[in-house]
Amino acid sequence: MGVTAVIGLQWGDEGKGKVVDVLSEHSDVVARCQGGANAGHTMVIDGEKYILHLVPSGILRPDTVCVIGNGVVVDLDVLEEEIDKLGGGGIDTAGRLLMSVRAHVVLPLHKKVELLLEEMRGKNKIGTTRRGIGPCYSDKCSRLGIRVGDILHPDTLKSKLETLHASYSGGRYGTDLPCVDELLEHCLNHETMVEEFAGDVSALLRRSLAQGKNILLEGSQGFLLDIDHGTYPFVTSSSTGIHGLTGGVGLAPSDVNSVVGVVKSYTTRVGEGILPTSMEEPYQSQVRDRGQEYGATTGRPRRCGWPDLPAIRYSCTTNGVTSVAITKLDTLSGVDGLKVCVAYDRLGASVETLSPDMDFLGECKPCYASCESWDTLDGIGSIEDLPPEAREYVDQILQAAECPAEPISVGPGREHLIKVGR
Ligand code: GDP
Ligand code: IMO
Ligand code: MG
Repeated sequence: MGVTAVIGLQWGDEGKGKVVDVLSEHSDVVARCQGGANAGHTMVIDGEKYILHLVPSGILRPDTVCVIGNGVVVDLDVLEEEIDKLGGGGIDTAGRLLMSVRAHVVLPLHKKVELLLEEMRGKNKIGTTRRGIGPCYSDKCSRLGIRVGDILHPDTLKSKLETLHASYSGGRYGTDLPCVDELLEHCLNHETMVEEFAGDVSALLRRSLAQGKNILLEGSQGFLLDIDHGTYPFVTSSSTGIHGLTGGVGLAPSDVNSVVGVVKSYTTRVGEGILPTSMEEPYQSQVRDRGQEYGATTGRPRRCGWPDLPAIRYSCTTNGVTSVAITKLDTLSGVDGLKVCVAYDRLGASVETLSPDMDFLGECKPCYASCESWDTLDGIGSIEDLPPEAREYVDQILQAAECPAEPISVGPGREHLIKVGR
């Protein structure tokens, strides 16, 4: 198995948490590589629901080591809360959770600045998760950011915070930002946790590879939210594709053996930005209700759309996807009038593959093929047992992806699974 990367191929919330939980049965190490507490990854095990924002989804497997890579921006409050909550539920993180000393720290200042920026954008607002992600990555790129390892050196930490804070002076962000002492106190409040959990993640992964261990890279967000290859500017601030995953933990692209793309059986999007295949009513409300499409991080209702094959083709080819995990097929059971967007019509020409430029996409109109619905998927455990209509639906997605299925999810629980592939 070697290194397997799991990437969302749409606009996030594809069910990556569930797929990572399933695949981590055969993994020694599971790594978060990019993004931060904007992610909300859900797993349902023995009827109990777990939502994780920063700790990798492999933590629910007792023998799996979990790491948070250099590419992640860490909200230390959220992390501490998550570790405590897991501990309270009998899931021990001691000795099996490592966070990179090179990961950047999301400060209270970043969250405040993000609110001001969103306000300033007015009708062009992004609809962010308000987790301070964008400002934290901005400071990282400006080389003003605070890294996890800085917290272990309080003297230089203070000096770095002073420089960072000075970069926000001049009134552009008002006068109500947290002062240096508050930021210092915030960081040092987490010193004990950092001492316990911080280390060299890249070195651990290299050692693990040398020992022949299996590593799972857990992507967050979705490829269409990628800072470079997504629907800019309505994207997040990290590289959500394969490029970001390897860079986010310090592995080489050639270390990766397989890339599992996660596709929800329909499309959802939360926040602003184009959703070319947006469902009309009553499907919009019906699918949102049936799929419980409300954000795992912010609780916002997600917009629902028909499956978008041009988008899937784009995400698969750009990431070298080798297999596709299809989720939430059960949500569409009994929904009459299903359709799939097979191509776009752009000014009279047929477009088979999405281009993420907003001007281009704005000129594209989805072309749909109708699909027969199926009654139920209850109790289905093998691909051969799928009703022929569901099989046809799945095959359309696989043909666009040009790769096999692995696996197909037919419910939120670990047990609701059609195992295909490994
Ligand atoms: P992620 O961010 O990609 O990990 O996805 P989220 O956790 O934000 O959202 C996926 C939601 O769908 C969660 O509530 C999951 O419990 C749920 N889910 C995952 N797979 C399935 C499935 O096959 N069927 C159903 N009904 N729910 C699923
Ligand atoms: P998971 O990992 C869905 C969206 C936000 C917003 C845009 C920018 O659970 O799939 P940000 O706070 O990152 O600056 O917001 O990106 N977004 C997500 N949408 N799932 C996510 O993560 C998301 N993370 C960010 O809604 O539109
Ligand atoms: Mg999510």
